Amino acid sequence: MASQLPSPAEMYELFYGPGIFQPLTAVLVEFAAPKLGERVLDVACGTGLVARHVAPLVGAAGKVVAVDINPAMLAVARKQPIPDGAVIEWREGDAVTIDLSADEFDLVLCQQGLQFFSDPAAALRRVHASLVPGGRIALAVWQGIERQSLFAEFAEIEARHLAPLGVSYDDLVAPFSLGDADHLRVLLEGAGFAQIEVVAHAINARFPSPETFARKMETAYAAVIPAFIEDPAAFDTFVDAVERETREVVQRYSRGDTLSFTMPTNLAVAHVA
Ligand SMILES: C[S@@+](CC[C@H](N)C(=O)[O-])C[C@H]1O[C@@H](n2cnc3c(N)ncnc32)[C@H](O)[C@@H]1O
Repeated sequence: MASQLPSPAEMYELFYGPGIFQPLTAVLVEFAAPKLGERVLDVACGTGLVARHVAPLVGAAGKVVAVDINPAMLAVARKQPIPDGAVIEWREGDAVTIDLSADEFDLVLCQQGLQFFSDPAAALRRVHASLVPGGRIALAVWQGIERQSLFAEFAEIEARHLAPLGVSYDDLVAPFSLGDADHLRVLLEGAGFAQIEVVAHAINARFPSPETFARKMETAYAAVIPAFIEDPAAFDTFVDAVERETREVVQRYSRGDTLSFTMPTNLAVAHVA
């Protein structure tokens, strides 16, 4: 069946946003405790959920700069309404190489971005240099795939279909590839951060209309796999198979009209001495 769904970046905002990333944003921003007037960098901002949440809290006396490598995500971000009194500057760039001025920011936020960077240590050194003395970074990084109830079961099924297309299990579970708290602490220390605190937290992901979950999820995620961009019909075949094979999993995590499952993440805060 040909898909009439929005683009992957739009699906991210519409589907993953309310289901997963908005609830997590509220937790991360509270953990980071932004103050009025602070200058904030949101690294790997995606469609801007964190930037839009934090901007009214720092107000027009502060500023928010939001960076992402993917222009399609930034295009969706730019289309969203900005809260009153908020200032957000969107920048396209790779967190590993982006030019940032020294002492440009009081707070860096990075929600589920670090695990995707080609060199997370280099990105952390770069943002460390952009923070004022006493500045801080607050990050959210998912725990490992083995702790991700529903997504662990989905990954087993998806992997069988994606392996012939050259997508390995490790590629597939990249969002959960930096799940070890000690590893995160070592990365932050190596970049020069001090007073590092890593805490575990689990959000409750919730999606309406469970029967539509698999297709929407794959559109926001697997649709960007190069083999599917070249051959959209192959994507539809893939989604049909995943929908069929995950039906029992989806039913097990559903109550009435709601699919619900926990997603454990690590939250880290670290300071510039
Ligand atoms: C799971 S999304 C998180 C988006 C957003 N922080 C949120 O919480 O909704 C991961 C984001 O990381 C971005 N990303 C991946 N590698 C990047 C890099 N090297 N530099 C900047 N952004 C990157 C992707 O384009 C994507 O928007």
